[in-house]
Amino acid sequence: MPPYRQLGTIARKRHIAFPQAGGGFRGEGIHYEEVVTTAGFSRAYSILYHLRPPTRVRRVEPAGSLPVPVVEEPVLRHHHLKTGGLPPAGDPITGRVPLLTNADVTLWRCRPAQPQAELYRNAIADEVLFIHRGRGTLETMFGRLPFKPFDYIVIPRCTTYRLVADPEVSLEMLIIESAGSIVVPPKYLNPDGQMKLGAPFCERDLHGPAELITVVEETETPVMVKDGPRLTRYVLAQHPFDVVGWDGLVYPYTFNADDFEPLTGTVHLPPPVHQTFEAAGFVICTFAPRMLDTHPEAIKVPYAHSNVQADEVLYYVRGRFGSRRGVEEASITLHPRGIPHGPHPGTIVASRSMARTDELAVMVDTERPLQLTRQALELDDAAYPYSWLE
Ligand SMILES: [Fe+2]
Repeated sequence: MPPYRQLGTIARKRHIAFPQAGGGFRGEGIHYEEVVTTAGFSRAYSILYHLRPPTRVRRVEPAGSLPVPVVEEPVLRHHHLKTGGLPPAGDPITGRVPLLTNADVTLWRCRPAQPQAELYRNAIADEVLFIHRGRGTLETMFGRLPFKPFDYIVIPRCTTYRLVADPEVSLEMLIIESAGSIVVPPKYLNPDGQMKLGAPFCERDLHGPAELITVVEETETPVMVKDGPRLTRYVLAQHPFDVVGWDGLVYPYTFNADDFEPLTGTVHLPPPVHQTFEAAGFVICTFAPRMLDTHPEAIKVPYAHSNVQADEVLYYVRGRFGSRRGVEEASITLHPRGIPHGPHPGTIVASRSMARTDELAVMVDTERPLQLTRQALELDDAAYPYSWLE
């Protein structure tokens, strides 16, 4: 979880009357708490203070769906999905293209063609939006959160939001939708809950909302709620951003991949040194620009490996990826369990004279097998499994 944060005005104590000037809603004279709790009431929470009760719903109506059409593949094999050429479509919610999925995580790509039409809220999954291109502001009930290229935007479930992109550069994202809560790896925390000295990033690198959006007018507002593939439109009697203050540990935040401090050894260090986030059933790692291994005889690309208990996904963001040939920006490779993979022919020799790599990639390693969607199969390079031959 990110560190405790407070924004705006809050009550002196929890759950006591927090007076609202001018009589407030219905003349009750108070602000209205919304306690956002995780793991029942047992884990991290935040308390928001609204001008009106956040429970006032005028209409509930179906709003379609975002299906994840899984395909049954006849063989187990490596995949290379070239997603850079996906045509822009939809908005930052409706334009999401599902690619890989299991019970814990679904990976989507999104190149929206239009601004986000309605406020949105994922009811049953945390979301990580990795911003490949574009910048702007995530508008949320917790306030405004600016974002820029190579930010991970971590959005806890039930955060109502609108992604507002600056018009100059088209937005391009990888979206990681997680059934479990996204957390900073516990191995980076000391027993006092602080990120350890020597962890690859720290609290200063996590950026929360810096400015509230307090909508005072009573404005009827639709919010699209996603639970699994189903979309439901809630028409609220007021704007859900009528918040004057909040505090707690549950809020959206950004972490920029370029703030990841990579480790280099004398010989190759395995992927856990790149770990950035985790959730039940998978980890997210950042392959950041870094010095290459320094032993005079070091092989500077990874050894071939059989990840016998994980499926391994790489999303290639920027630079030349030392161990791969043929991948492009926005390529996704899937190396499933059951078959070894490793550096492509020629890359070992090519890396000998290099002291540094400028590669930037996001890795998602899953405990359960991933399945491809129909859309993923359409982007697949069928020759990829044979690309390790000379
Ligand atoms: Fe690997």
